[in-house]
Amino acid sequence: TASGPVVHNEKARFWEVFEYDDVLMLASEHETFSSDGSKFADHPEEFIKAQSILTTDPPRHRQLRSLVSQAFTPRAIASMAPRIAEITHDLLDHVVGQGSMDIITDLSYPLPVIVISELLGVPAEDRAQFKRWSDDMVFSEYDELTAINVEEYNERMRQVIRRTLDELYDYFRIVLAERRLQPCQDLVSELLAARIEGQSLSEAEILAFCTLLLIAGNITTTNLIGNALLCFDEHPETMDQLAERPDLLPQAIEEVLRYRSPALLLARYTTRDVELHGQTIPCGQMILGWIASANFDPQQFPHPEAFDITRSPNRHLAFGHGIHFCLGAPLARLEAKIALSILLERFQQIRRNREQPVETIHSAFILGPKHCPV
Ligand code: HEM
Repeated sequence: TASGPVVHNEKARFWEVFEYDDVLMLASEHETFSSDGSKFADHPEEFIKAQSILTTDPPRHRQLRSLVSQAFTPRAIASMAPRIAEITHDLLDHVVGQGSMDIITDLSYPLPVIVISELLGVPAEDRAQFKRWSDDMVFSEYDELTAINVEEYNERMRQVIRRTLDELYDYFRIVLAERRLQPCQDLVSELLAARIEGQSLSEAEILAFCTLLLIAGNITTTNLIGNALLCFDEHPETMDQLAERPDLLPQAIEEVLRYRSPALLLARYTTRDVELHGQTIPCGQMILGWIASANFDPQQFPHPEAFDITRSPNRHLAFGHGIHFCLGAPLARLEAKIALSILLERFQQIRRNREQPVETIHSAFILGPKHCPV
């Protein structure tokens, strides 16, 4: 519970904003709100090592984004549709006839990992290892974030990040060395070959990008599919609507993104003193913009508590906004659309197993069910 539109968490030493316009401003005004914390806070070197386009400001951000976009075009993503459908069918073939399944374990976790592994060109069989690394990197609870101060938090994260990044980077360094010797038709090879004005990405930048894709891209998409099932189950009339009008599925996915946003917040740093709702946020302070709260702002979304798959317009901030707008949004939307349409087509009577309560992931950053037995 917040006591106003701008909250200063004195112990943890960060600020928080909740309203749609404020979160939108945080994402849009990149000159005032920097994504690069290493410029302002005394970050351990491990954070800096993990710096990717997500935590870079212009002009470097612009260069990095156009380099990685060369390998991550909407056309390349769209061409993956048949393979995404094939993987979904394969995964469902394993559970068909069982009468029950866990949406997370059996479908929404393996699907994005297999897709991104194939895109990157790493063996999908290594996915148990990828999951361990992902869990280590993102699972910090909000209570943990606020109960200790920045230095203590950094110290705790330093240990986890150092271990995880060392392992991840060792893993990808071998992949990079192999692709340098023998380029393939995969993203790693394209990243190695990408050039802008004769300049290529450094090894550190490629490692950070691969890590970002593997971690950020997977967990969020897993949760989008899990959250969709929870929303549809809580609002069973949507299942009937979708059975009658399957063409509403993309709109329904947008409403899931608004109603249960997989990425709960975005973080920025003030590059100057900023006046906001009568308070002065000094230069160099971290501000968390709560996407999950902005997406329920009644000024922007009439009846925000209503889950309405026909909501229009639906300008949610689930993928952020502005220069850092999610690069993987077309892929996440495509995977969710294909997985959910095949699931609803193959299993017309799909109901959550109510004997098992929904257990939510304990994280300050991510919203989704740990398991979703149906
Ligand atoms: C950026 C959410 C899936 C790759 C972002 C941002 C958000 C977000 C909120 C902006 C962060 C900021 O402004 O600080 C999500 C959600 C997803 C999803 C909710 C799934 C439902 C993916 C996938 C990939 C991906 C599948 C790639 C495979 C990225 C990258 C960025 C990003 C590379 C950084 C872009 C930049 O800084 O220019 N994502 N994401 N995301 N996302 Fe996603």
